[in-house]
Parts: sequence; C-alpha cells; structure tokens
Amino acid sequence: MFQVNDNFLKLKAGYLFPEIARRVTAFTQAHPEANVIRLGIGDVTEPLPAAVIEAMHKAVDEMAGRSTFRGYGPEQGYDFLRNAIAQYDFQARGCYVAADEIFVSDGSKCDTGNILDIFGAKNSVAMQDPVYPVYVDTNVMAGHTGPADESGRYQGLTYLPCTAENGFTPAIPERPVDLIYLCYPNNPTGAVASRETLTGWVNYARANGSLILFDAAYEAFITDPAIPHSIYEIPGARECAIEFRSFSKNAGFTGTRCAFTVVPKDVVGRTSSGDRQAIHPLWNRRHCTKFNGVSYIVQRGAEAVYSEAGQQQTRELIQFYMKNAELLRQGLSAVGIEVFGGVNAPYIWLKTPGEATSWEFFDRLLNQAHLVGTPGSGFGASGEGYFRLSAFNSREKVEEAVVRFQALMGT
Ligand code: MLT
Repeated sequence: MFQVNDNFLKLKAGYLFPEIARRVTAFTQAHPEANVIRLGIGDVTEPLPAAVIEAMHKAVDEMAGRSTFRGYGPEQGYDFLRNAIAQYDFQARGCYVAADEIFVSDGSKCDTGNILDIFGAKNSVAMQDPVYPVYVDTNVMAGHTGPADESGRYQGLTYLPCTAENGFTPAIPERPVDLIYLCYPNNPTGAVASRETLTGWVNYARANGSLILFDAAYEAFITDPAIPHSIYEIPGARECAIEFRSFSKNAGFTGTRCAFTVVPKDVVGRTSSGDRQAIHPLWNRRHCTKFNGVSYIVQRGAEAVYSEAGQQQTRELIQFYMKNAELLRQGLSAVGIEVFGGVNAPYIWLKTPGEATSWEFFDRLLNQAHLVGTPGSGFGASGEGYFRLSAFNSREKVEEAVVRFQALMGT
C-alpha cells in the first residue's frame, strides 16, 4: 500500500482560520437570527480601486481579440509588472532590487510555504511566537520538526517569544540559526521593526550565514516615516534576505490573488558537499516548474496600483482601514482593555480581560456579542492570553463592533 507523509499527522488540529470558520458556522446555524460581525481573518471588504478595475476591464477586452489575446505568460511575471515593482517599491526607496529578482505569484501564503522546496532538510529554523501559522505548519509538513508539545510548540523549531514585556520585538537568538522568519509590520501583534532592529538581524544573518525570510505583506500600513518598508533598506540585506510582498491587503487582492517574492542574486547558500550555491536560479527553477504565472488580467490590475490614480486610491483604502483600527483601539482602551498594534498595521492585539484564555474569550465574544476575532494562542504559545481583531471591515460594522464590545465589558 502507498505511504502518506507522516509529518501531516504531527500538525495540531485544523489550520487556524478554517477552525474559526467552523465554530462560527456552528454558532450561526444554532442562532440564525444573530448578526455576526467578523473581525477574524484579515480579509478586505472594500472593492478594488477604480484604476485597477479599469485596467482589468481593458485587459479582458484584449483577451477578446486575436491580435491582443495572451496565452501562457512568463512564469516569473510580465516585465511591465516586474519593472513597476522594482521601480516604485524598491528603487524609489533607495534600495537596489532588479526586475529579474522579482517573482510574481498568486500569494505570499503560497510563497512562504513553497520557498522551503529550495532549502535542505537540516537547516535550523527560527520564528517569532506568536506567528503567522503558515511558517510553522509548512515546516512541519516538510519534516523539519519533531512532534508538538502540550503548548503546541514543535520540537526542533527555535521560537522567539514576542510579548508585551519585550514590546513584541524578540531578542536575537544566542546561537546561530539557518533560516529566520520575520514578519513586519507583524501579523498578528501589529508591532513594527525599527531600522536598528532590522540592522541587528541583518548583521546577525551575515555573521552566521543565515537567511532571513522577511514577510512584508503589511508594509503599506506603516504610518511612521522612520520605519523601513523593505528589509533591503538595510545595508547588506541583499546578501541575506528574501522578501515577500502582496497586493492583497493594500489594494484589495485577497480574492483576485497577486503577490511577489524578491530573491536577490547576491544570496548564496551552500550545498550538502559545502559548495557555494546562489538561490536565485533554484527559486527560478522551482517557480517555473510548479507554477504557470498569474493571469494577464490580474497582472494588469496590479500594474495599475502603481499609476498615479492607483497610488491615490490605494492610499485612501489604507487610510480607511487604519481609521477602523483607530476606532477599535480607542473604543477598547476606553473600557480598560490593554491594546497593542493598530498604528502601523491593520491588526489590534489585545490582552484578554481577566484571566480568560484566548479561546475562552473567543467563545464569550461570539456567544454574547456575536463578534468574531482570532484567539492569540492560535498563533503560538506566546499568544495565549491575547486576542487579535482585524481592522478590515466596513465603518458601520466596526462602529457597531465597538458598541458591542463596550457593552460586553460593562456586563
Ligand atoms: C490573517 O488573517 O492572518 C491573514 O488574512 C491570513 C493570510 O493573509 O493568509
């Protein structure tokens, strides 16, 4: 009989967001009259920017004519989009990233998981705790860990606790690790990394031959001008970092799907026999073998994000969600809840009131206020006792959520 990948059996329960959806569905089936407000998964609610829609319509029309029709595109992305990304996201910030170091994809979730294909099985891996669960689960699936302990921590991973005590900024590990996942602005805590913090990580990675897997999916939400948007703003990062970016949250592409990963040609690892090996050709090979590219229509839409109108419209979208974040922060603080994040990131990270565990608070919020959030413990053991609210929703629903939250705290 064929054999399955045993590593999947080490995974704890379901993936976090489907598990939340399961509980919410059970609740709404039992209480069909309840008007549930969802501030759980960070899924956008506002329509795509007008400039994006216009570009996509035009691209659809091109697909309707024989002379303008497109079939398979370049797997790495069309030049028009790769050039726009290189110019506006990197060169305009003074960092050198070439267009052919950019790989357009259908999501950072996929890329942060798929990237493991190009690394050996013996790397030591470190990640923030709490953390975007995809980094952990894909390492488990790839067989890079032992089983989980009672708190949900997997043997073999190095966890970097992020708590209120360290300002959600983990200390650099004392011993060398090979792969380090960093997410800034952080999902779930909403913390950001200063230039000094990132410089510390880059220096550590260069000194130890480590690679930083830098997830910057939320960079567009940075409001503080002193905070770097890209790890490549730090000298030396081209030698030791891959960066993941997405159009999901800044331009509303969660359903449309478009993202990109930057793999600089300067990043060099070693083979099992000790030879030096650049990773750019490996990722290029992997991407072209297992992926056929993002659709032309979607890439034209993504390109329009960089037009003058697209920039203005995405700025407005971001400001809209950040106003939601401010309302949540203020509304919760007003009833004595300790809140973090929500200033440079669209997530509010709060301390659960009283002694409630994260899941106990989830159930209380759902049952008594018909509000959905994300239990902090779902992001890792150090998230226990915390809870995440997403600012992605309509203004009306956010205002109603604040009223319900305050009423709940008064009871
Ligand atoms: C989240 O809620 O953490 C994100 O929406 C998940 C994702 O981007 O995959």
